Amino acid sequence: MMQHTPLVDPFARAITYLRVSVTDRCDFRCVYCMAENMTFLPKRDLLTLEELDRLCSAFIRLGVRKLRITGGEPLVRRDIMTFFNAMGRHLDNGTLEELTLTTNGSQLEKFASGLYAAGVRRVNVSLDTLDNDKFARVTRWGRLDQVMRGLDAAQAAGLRVKINTVALKGFNEDELFALVAWCAARGMDLTFIEVMPMGDLGNEQRIDQYWSLKDVRARLAERYCLLDLAERTGGPARYVRLTETGQKIGFITPLSHNFCESCNRVRVTCTGEIYTCLGQEDRADLRAPLRAAPDDDAPLVAAIRDAVADKPKGHDFDYSRQRADGQVSRHMSHTGG
Ligand code: 5AD
Ligand code: SF4
Repeated sequence: MMQHTPLVDPFARAITYLRVSVTDRCDFRCVYCMAENMTFLPKRDLLTLEELDRLCSAFIRLGVRKLRITGGEPLVRRDIMTFFNAMGRHLDNGTLEELTLTTNGSQLEKFASGLYAAGVRRVNVSLDTLDNDKFARVTRWGRLDQVMRGLDAAQAAGLRVKINTVALKGFNEDELFALVAWCAARGMDLTFIEVMPMGDLGNEQRIDQYWSLKDVRARLAERYCLLDLAERTGGPARYVRLTETGQKIGFITPLSHNFCESCNRVRVTCTGEIYTCLGQEDRADLRAPLRAAPDDDAPLVAAIRDAVADKPKGHDFDYSRQRADGQVSRHMSHTGG
């Protein structure tokens, strides 16, 4: 039946991983992600929790096995636990393998046990520094102790935590080993992310802040023995194991082209736009088909299939010139991290 033929793009890549942003809002204002004065979308533009459920459930029927909830900050969306609990049914019946989220950690103290009860087993928490003042500077509105309490709650609830750290030149270079040791002591994996040329603000500054993960890796190798892991997730991450601590360290280099051929993912924004490549403007609206036929998912499924049929081969980010070529004009909080 047409509804159940799996999603495969023209380059024979099966789409098994969906990232969905459930809000463009956040309680932080990280300097590389948002402007201080953000204008957020009116509520009517956002997919409702019911629409999010229909959308994700349609993707799961079409072969998505892994669902990651992002934002903005997903845990500031009102009643978001209703949605997590609803997605839990797909875990219970075995059609969904994994339900995860990317969060800034600020609300984990409140939600960690509920997330575990819904079936979430892992969370990615964004954290760029272990210093209170630097944390306040980079997030503008965030407070480190609140995130630390969130991490405690997550681990106490049984959630595995992975820390995502944006590598920022002149900002957290000096904390490389402190971050590694801290994660090792707490049994948390750590992934470094290259800062991406997203959004229209502070682009010049962002290039200045660019700290190559090649350099991060070389510095790690001065103190640890790095074992390359073959494991790939279909995304831009590569992993090594530190022989001394047994820790897994990831490197996300979205600016390199070496992962597009194995890309297994699409993203949907909080307004229901599907982006089939993080680095391209290609997008299609899924909200209109969702709203046009509240009791019939056929138009939605057709729109998803059309979008996947147009998935670009790869992206055009390029830092090798002075301008950030291939830059896309949207903020990270729009397509989700
Ligand atoms: N470059 C790299 N990572 C970014 N994030 C947000 N904006 C950027 C950017 N310009 C990351 C955050 C978090 C996730 C939501 O996206 O650090 O890990
Ligand atoms: Fe919020 Fe994450 Fe963006 Fe920071 S990077 S402002 S925590 S969405």
